[in-house]
Amino acid sequence: MTDKYEEQSAGVDTTAKSGGIVSSVVNWIDDRIPMTRVWNMHIAQYPAPKNFNFWYLFGSLAILVLVNQIVTGIWLTMNFVPSAEGAFASVEYIMRDVEYGWLLRYLHSTGASAFFVVVYLHMFRGMIYGSYQKPRELLWLFGMLIFLALMAEAFMGYLLPWGQMSFWGAQVIISLFGAIPVIGEDLTLWIRGDYVISGATLNRFFALHVIALPLVLVILVFLHIVALHEVGSNNPDGIEVKRKKGSVADEDKPKFKFHEYYTNKKDVIDAIPFHPYYTVKDVLGVAGFLILFCWVVFFMPEMNGFFLEAPNFEAANPLKTPEHIFPVWYFTPFYAILRAIPDKLAGVVAMGASIVVLALLPWLDRGKVRSIRYRSIWHKLNIAQFVVTFLILGWAGATPQTVFSTILSQICTVTYFMFFVLLYVYSKNEVTKPLPTRLTK
Ligand code: HEM
Repeated sequence: MTDKYEEQSAGVDTTAKSGGIVSSVVNWIDDRIPMTRVWNMHIAQYPAPKNFNFWYLFGSLAILVLVNQIVTGIWLTMNFVPSAEGAFASVEYIMRDVEYGWLLRYLHSTGASAFFVVVYLHMFRGMIYGSYQKPRELLWLFGMLIFLALMAEAFMGYLLPWGQMSFWGAQVIISLFGAIPVIGEDLTLWIRGDYVISGATLNRFFALHVIALPLVLVILVFLHIVALHEVGSNNPDGIEVKRKKGSVADEDKPKFKFHEYYTNKKDVIDAIPFHPYYTVKDVLGVAGFLILFCWVVFFMPEMNGFFLEAPNFEAANPLKTPEHIFPVWYFTPFYAILRAIPDKLAGVVAMGASIVVLALLPWLDRGKVRSIRYRSIWHKLNIAQFVVTFLILGWAGATPQTVFSTILSQICTVTYFMFFVLLYVYSKNEVTKPLPTRLTK
């Protein structure tokens, strides 16, 4: 491995030296585009900190789920009819008559929920290990843009089967834009493409769901990884990987760029090549994930109405409002914040702020220490209360509104924002544990 590193640092091509048709083809391509170099630099030999744990699995899983959504989505599109008259019936047709259509649909609908499970855990990892802190702010911001695009993608996808919840859910959410002063009414008209939710709305949501937003997502994920590889991965200790004294990329250097990691791998003591160490670890994680995922797909794809809601098995009927209208589970924490505030505009603002404030984390956290392992008890308690708050909001947003659920949502809306206010206050002069000099386990 070391020799290969040395040769590559010196610009020697170390791959496909032996004869044979495959290596000739690889060489031919490598002479024209940097295929092997990019593969080695960003995957096979990416210098990853040696102490990645379970939490570092979710980035790879997010890529896996993204690919699943794109592939199953393409096949669903082959039989889906994007019109108010044909959509609901075409989904039934996919479920009953298309060969393995039921499987494609359940892989796609379960994949949507799995995407949010994985992304929420991935974001939580970033929070506990302070991965958003300098120099990874832009990486975090790309992540937040991905999160926004993902929410838009899921929302638009949910209208497509043209069930009762598709229709009325979209009705509730689009009407929120009407609360915006001055432009509100025109904005809702522009989004719907009609005075009511109609085939025109379905058509444009279809275009955005199948091409525009997936394209945006893929580009953002690419930029996310580029940003990650420019500065290198953080790790559960939240300290930079150790470099040898006097190395080219020595500790005194203020900035440690990825290409320095890469070209001076021998100086980076605490990093190991991504392949085979983390490819093997990720394969194990992927296997575990697939067991759970397939269990849901084959045995409970509706997940008791959490992944596919009961009213959505009835075709959209503009004359019949369902008794209760809820978004799918992954939106319910934010929906609870919206409902907690009686004034519509204030509710919309609070809901928007609850998402935007996450993007500001790199600047709200003024701490010098990244990882929760070495931070104060106040930080640990604050993160714990944030998790509990988020779960309660998720529950409150998924239940019919009562006095109790409203009061609970109001309290949790306060504690949700308190997390960020408190973080800003205590992080400045936080008393932390001493950091280790080398990565621990
Ligand atoms: C489609 C969705 C996403 C994909 C495919 C994705 C992919 C990845 C991958 C492959 C990694 C490297 C492996 C790892 O550290 O787990 C990573 C790291 C990271 N991601 Fe994402 N990501 C997504 C969404 C997000 C979101 C929504 C955020 C936060 C707002 C985020 C924040 C981060 C951060 C901070 C890191 C660096 C973690 C560290 O080095 O400790 N990502 N992402």
